[in-house]
Amino acid sequence: MKYLPLNPEIFNNNRSRFIEKMEKNSIAIFNSNDELPTNADQVYKFKQNSDIIWLTGIDQEDTMLILFPDNPDPKFREVLVLVRPNEIKEKWDGHRLRKTEAQAISGIQTIIWLDTLEGYLQPWIHWSDSIYLNTNENDRKSNLIQVRDYRYALMMKERFPLHQYKRSAKILKELRSIKTSQEIEVMQKAIDITDNTFRRLLKFVKPGVMEYEIEAEIYHSFLSQRATGPAYGSIIASGDRARTLHYVENNKECKEGELLLMDFGAEYGNYCADLTRTIPVSGKFTRRQKTVYNACLHLHHYAVGILKPGISIIDYTHKIGDEATIVFQKIGLLRKSEIKNEDPENRAFAKYLYHGISHHLGIDVHDLGTRTTPIKAGMVFTIEPGIYIEEEQMGIRIENNFWVTKNGNKDLMKNIPITVEEIESFMKK
Ligand code: GLY
Ligand code: MN
Repeated sequence: MKYLPLNPEIFNNNRSRFIEKMEKNSIAIFNSNDELPTNADQVYKFKQNSDIIWLTGIDQEDTMLILFPDNPDPKFREVLVLVRPNEIKEKWDGHRLRKTEAQAISGIQTIIWLDTLEGYLQPWIHWSDSIYLNTNENDRKSNLIQVRDYRYALMMKERFPLHQYKRSAKILKELRSIKTSQEIEVMQKAIDITDNTFRRLLKFVKPGVMEYEIEAEIYHSFLSQRATGPAYGSIIASGDRARTLHYVENNKECKEGELLLMDFGAEYGNYCADLTRTIPVSGKFTRRQKTVYNACLHLHHYAVGILKPGISIIDYTHKIGDEATIVFQKIGLLRKSEIKNEDPENRAFAKYLYHGISHHLGIDVHDLGTRTTPIKAGMVFTIEPGIYIEEEQMGIRIENNFWVTKNGNKDLMKNIPITVEEIESFMKK
């Protein structure tokens, strides 16, 4: 890993919060993600399971965590399971964690090797009444591949059929969405790296630059600042391509007169930043581009004003839709009659703004979190309204990241240039 050591209190806190929610005399078992094959003898770069990260900070394959707060032997109430370092594997793939190193990262004192787990686990299961297992309950999950957590759940249910099984994800969905101030410190670092990178791009972009050259600048800047890399595939879309929400081909030229949409964020210490800025390739907005940009910025500020505890995501989204309806009429996109006759299930504004305004952000860019209960203090959301106009071959999105506070929110990206004037002035320098 490239990031500097994090504060183990992050993970001590997170585990305590999870344990508090466990039923009496229950055990919770967490698994790492699979190492997934590509082709021939290659594997994808290992990506740790986000819940293992949230609970332990351990970024190594084949790690497990076992929480058994009522274990009669206090030594085994929190156990981290690691793969035993092996000389040959280390010759090929490098250093694997020793017990003391894993203790320092995770704050967990009891570490056992994976090849000894079986002898411990069976009696612990017999002594507990329920077993918490984990699966991916992100509402936007989009694949049905049977990854390790699902195989493990099936195996356990077959082997211990008379236990009660519980869903860790139900607890994690609630807990992971509320960020502690220690987690925010790490997110702020990811955001600051992204901020520095954006400032570098403001000087780098000019007519004729290729989208992939900008992507390469982002990589260079991220890695030089100890980021693990981009938190998601950077979207570098000039002109009409900005209307494709997840455009990642990044293989065309940025031309004079076009607007360039850049949606990118660093991953640092396993936490994500998620920034979108739209800038004029030439360094100066045309009058029309400025009008549409300021309309989008108005929606952004409007959303900032209503993102606070108590509002439901449905009401929040609906209100922004109402405001977008007014704004889109003002800038000549919608006629009164279109608004009057709109289908409530497919409102008129949605022709120009066809995605949600906010998502949870944290260890995952579309982070685990409840989307059906009112917004709570401690949650981190993006605010990212966009305006996409096919007739004008233009797409604009403006995105910052916010920590919800008791009475409102804190803009974690408040230092990043956002107004037309700031952008033009930094591009001129
Ligand atoms: N940053 C890409 C997205 O939010 O979907
Ligand atoms: Mn986003």
